[in-house]
Amino acid sequence: MNSYEIQKYGGPEGLKVVDRSLPDPGDHEVAVRLKAASLNYRDLIVLRGQYNRRPIQGRVPLSDGAGQVIGVGSAVTKFKLGDRVAGCFFQGWSAGRFKAEMHRTALGGAIDGVLAEEAIFREEGLVHVPEIYSFEEGATLPCAAVTAWQSLIVRGQLAPGEAVLLLGTGGVSIFGLQIAKSVGAKAIITSSSNEKLERARELGADAVINYKTTPEWGQAAANLAGNGVDHVVEVGGAGTFTQSVRACACGGKIGLIGILSGRGAETDIFPIVAKSATVFGIYVGSREMFEGLNRALEQSKIRPVIDKVFSFESAPEAYAYMAAGSHFGKVVIRIGE
Ligand SMILES: NC(=O)c1ccc[n+]([C@@H]2O[C@H](COP(=O)([O-])OP(=O)(O)OC[C@H]3O[C@@H](n4cnc5c(N)ncnc54)[C@H](OP(=O)(O)O)[C@@H]3O)[C@@H](O)[C@H]2O)c1
Repeated sequence: MNSYEIQKYGGPEGLKVVDRSLPDPGDHEVAVRLKAASLNYRDLIVLRGQYNRRPIQGRVPLSDGAGQVIGVGSAVTKFKLGDRVAGCFFQGWSAGRFKAEMHRTALGGAIDGVLAEEAIFREEGLVHVPEIYSFEEGATLPCAAVTAWQSLIVRGQLAPGEAVLLLGTGGVSIFGLQIAKSVGAKAIITSSSNEKLERARELGADAVINYKTTPEWGQAAANLAGNGVDHVVEVGGAGTFTQSVRACACGGKIGLIGILSGRGAETDIFPIVAKSATVFGIYVGSREMFEGLNRALEQSKIRPVIDKVFSFESAPEAYAYMAAGSHFGKVVIRIGE
């Protein structure tokens, strides 16, 4: 079967298609014919060689994939041939608190990922794809949607009527917008593009801010919410954190997720203290969280926003497209027929 490998760090030219054979699934494993995969910002960092501590040349990239079960180990009870499934970002995080050793089970990073025609997953590292979704839609969920879900619902305990601030219009933020609206929250979203802000309005955003033309977007969001926002889905990192704190209401919550504008910065921590705000780190989520998200998606009928679908052969172009930053929501790669 065909599979991509990261053979050289840098840009998409470091991706190569190779012919690989997979072993039969072990007792607790499931073999899956992949039908679609999706890209996350993390996949760009992985390809640049800036993500993993140890070299991972030869690794199959991408964490997010969906497909059909084509083989099950002798002890597998939850899946059968033909089931439509998606892999969990952390193959080893079923439930409970995150533990350090789970880093070693991250698809497309510490272990081989899903940009391949077939892959083997742990039974505990798979979920059923919601019936209402295509494989392309199912493949958008494992990282971006689970991350937004954990930040807003699991850790954030978002309540109807509260105000949420989303930064930019990438995968995590657009899922955050859809989840916030589905529970009756007020959604405020930023973007560098007025055109994207219009699209966000069509998706239900209550208020929008262009962060390029409004450098003090934190205060602007606080004003739009009335007295500050209750939740920030912080995907920007070092360059946005100060504004995110400014946006936050007293007693508000900031889910620290991303590093789009860098990792390290000097910041005045006192406003966090003075606002009695809660800042917590989010690292995707467990299988249990993914299953909770899927139940909610089936009820709310949220449709993942797919910006563009690329063929398996043009996967390197999908990376270049994502890196250019013109996408809105998710970029998907179709695998096979
Ligand atoms: N901790 C975790 O578990 C976790 C999980 C998923 C993602 N992440 C992180 O979260 C971040 C977003 O990931 P993603 O996959 O959603 O990315 P993405 O789809 O590539 O989103 C990129 C978008 O973010 C916006 N953006 C870029 N720089 C910005 C800035 N300085 N301020 C505000 N918005 C900015 C832009 O939106 P506009 O074009 O609208 O301006 C850009 O198009 C990344 O840093 C990623 O590593 C972390």
